[in-house]
Amino acid sequence: MPFAAITGWGTALPERVLTNHDLESMVDTTDEWIVSRTGIRERRIVGDHESTTSLATAAARAALEKAGRTPDEIDLIVVGTATPDDFLVSQACLVQAELGGSAGAFDVGAACAGFVTALSVGSQFINADVYHRVLVIGVDTLTRYVDYTDRSTCVLFGDGAGAVVLERSTEKRGLLSTVLGADGAGYKHLYVPGMANLVPESADLFPEYRPYLQMNGKEVFRFAVQVMGDAAAAAIAKVGIGFDQVDMLIPHQANLRIIDAAARRLDLPRDKVWVNVDRLGNTSAASVPIALAEAADSESIKEGDNVVLVAFGAGLAWAAGLVRWGTAGI
Ligand code: UT7
Repeated sequence: MPFAAITGWGTALPERVLTNHDLESMVDTTDEWIVSRTGIRERRIVGDHESTTSLATAAARAALEKAGRTPDEIDLIVVGTATPDDFLVSQACLVQAELGGSAGAFDVGAACAGFVTALSVGSQFINADVYHRVLVIGVDTLTRYVDYTDRSTCVLFGDGAGAVVLERSTEKRGLLSTVLGADGAGYKHLYVPGMANLVPESADLFPEYRPYLQMNGKEVFRFAVQVMGDAAAAAIAKVGIGFDQVDMLIPHQANLRIIDAAARRLDLPRDKVWVNVDRLGNTSAASVPIALAEAADSESIKEGDNVVLVAFGAGLAWAAGLVRWGTAGI
């Protein structure tokens, strides 16, 4: 069976930084509350000149450059996102419009678990020997759906994009196991009730209506602590290795307390857990690929390392996988 090694990676972040101190002047909150409950200190927020497409395209270009590939060498583009710029045209097609090429292009909807799910989908096209090179992107601009008068949600989210290039390898590299799960009955703990006024035409039709993210934080927290540990442990077990053979955990960056709980469940010391939630907040589907790219850029993961990815989010859905890092066998 061919394997799907990760040969390139890249990220893109909005220019605007929103700090906890900025939020103190917007809602009834404090830096102390936000840091102690979430670990977040600042996040990046899209401006008028930025979009899901612009972030995803920039991350994709960086990943292609790292892999030494051009868009016309890519067979398939898979995007994990919950915040596409258009509801009819897939975000993957909007990215392709910018990049060029004629690869197949479609989206995967699994909210914050979107990138890990998309990585699993993209990898399987290579494992099945259907395609040789796949571009996988995790991107979200969830702050467009955040109510900046609601302190219980507006402090949590940021925007961003991360991308990887997958290439056919003869060595055991890339995603070696996948664990997907969902509790659809719990969807009302985290959802956006309709998105009717995303486009200006419908904003005129429904001037009072704003599609803001609704969340039952306590329920999501409970769910997250449970599934992050369980799904990561299952992904490791599927490859037949022990927790002590894990070199790096790349968890969804929603809350430092949730990340710490997952690390404890796997018995991993802090230096084997990637954390950037303090700088970026919860970037939804972008959080895992951004963290993975940061770990790779800082050479904190190396050829042959076992890297565990795990994410949870709206759905309620979760996804985990074990990646063997490196480009052997390309
Ligand atoms: O990708 C998935 C996205 N979602 C998540 O990951 C969310 C998971 N849940 C969480 O991370 C946590 O539940 C939160 C960080 C959202 C909240 O932390 P908590 O420890 O569960 O706080 P809480 O909701 O129980 O609220 C405690 C208090 C409440 O006040 P009272 O009722 O005790 O007087 C809240 O009104 O904190 C208040 N509060 C705030 N205070 C200052 C809620 N938000 C804020 C805030 N600043 N931003």
